[in-house]
Amino acid sequence: MKDTPIPFDIVKQKIEASKFSKVGRATIREIVQLVNEIEVATNIKFVRMEMGVPGLEPSKLGIEAEVEALRKGVARIYPMVDGLPELKKEMARFVKNFMNIDVAEKCCIPTVGSMQGGMAAFLLTNRCQKEKDTILFIDPGFPVQKQQVRVLGMKSESFDVYNYRGEKLKDKLESYLSKGNISTIIYSNPNNPSWICFTEKELQIIGQLATQYDVVVIEDLAYFAMDFRKDLSKPGEPPYQVSVANYTDNWLLLISSSKIFSYAGQRIGAMVISNRLFERKYPDLKRFFASDEFGRALIYGAVYALSSGTSHSAQYALAAMLKAANDGKFNFVEVLKEYGERARVMKKLFTENGFKIVYDMDEDKPLADGFYFTISYPELSGEDLIEELIYYGISAISLSITGSDRSEGLRACVSHVQREQFADLEYRLKKFKEHHPVK
Ligand SMILES: Cc1ncc(COP(=O)(O)O)c(C=O)c1O
Repeated sequence: MKDTPIPFDIVKQKIEASKFSKVGRATIREIVQLVNEIEVATNIKFVRMEMGVPGLEPSKLGIEAEVEALRKGVARIYPMVDGLPELKKEMARFVKNFMNIDVAEKCCIPTVGSMQGGMAAFLLTNRCQKEKDTILFIDPGFPVQKQQVRVLGMKSESFDVYNYRGEKLKDKLESYLSKGNISTIIYSNPNNPSWICFTEKELQIIGQLATQYDVVVIEDLAYFAMDFRKDLSKPGEPPYQVSVANYTDNWLLLISSSKIFSYAGQRIGAMVISNRLFERKYPDLKRFFASDEFGRALIYGAVYALSSGTSHSAQYALAAMLKAANDGKFNFVEVLKEYGERARVMKKLFTENGFKIVYDMDEDKPLADGFYFTISYPELSGEDLIEELIYYGISAISLSITGSDRSEGLRACVSHVQREQFADLEYRLKKFKEHHPVK
């Protein structure tokens, strides 16, 4: 029994009562439950890094626009399946202003969060060409998207990009694409969980191969403009959010309001599809949809069947937030920089106390500080590390559930850690190091 920051016997008893065969193998929600129980039993607050939920206030602009829309009676009326015209317009402007990509308003379609955007996208991209029936995940990734593919009964393949950065990505991707069964490539950028950001060279490789092998790239921009190494906050001015859209026509972007506007509760995001892909005809789509045109099938086949469009009032909220960002009246990136600041301090505290950052470089550049970072500790597996850290009042999730090969690693999310907790974090990490001397 050690003098751990959280009473050893209480943690042990709660872990035993939870009946997990191994705490490190529990799902995110199970870890949340266990930590909640320990916090109640001990009255000690954890440094909670397990959940990827926004930790900032939602934008007031969104709330006010939504309340006003509700007062005007939009709750009574079904929204158009393809989305509110104001929102479509502002989303196309947003993509132009912050990515320098031209896209028609009709190609911007609101979704019930990016979660639904992904589901709708898979229903299309994996059915365009009969022989291409498999989705390729560039991992590590967001586990729920794999669950979506499983629920849809679709096939998937994946690889951890850790050892295939830069030029090496080409051969690795080609080894999958050349088999002829891949319909779709999906990744998030910046990446959940590792916070790697693909470089222009890597995006160019992905884009060129997507054109060459005729596959669609789903680029998940849930953490849009959060590579804080560059100032991506100025509408209409470089630098812009990097994107595969600069290198192929076969792209579909998922843009979420959850993190960039801290608007996760209202479940609103958008799919943005390249003009060329939107209009492209795939005869094989007729197996599932009335239309063989990608955009029409996506809206009137997939989105209609999934939810008949997206919450009316939330669309007004997103339109208002985007408009303010487009007009240069709302610097949403500035607000988000708080995450980068927290990550910078927390990474320092971890590394000063014997931890390593697992995914640490974008080719030759140190990783950005942002919403997530990844950690490991010498001589401990990721599963053991999660369990050990709980005795020290720190919670995180294992990278192994994200398709990462780095089973020694954990994902740490900064969003719910307050600056007032940094002193506690430092004390706890020092204790951890003292109790786990590295040989
Ligand atoms: C990579 C990634 N994609 C999508 C989502 C979900 O976005 P939304 O809340 O818009 O459904 C998340 C949320 O954590 C995410 O990390």
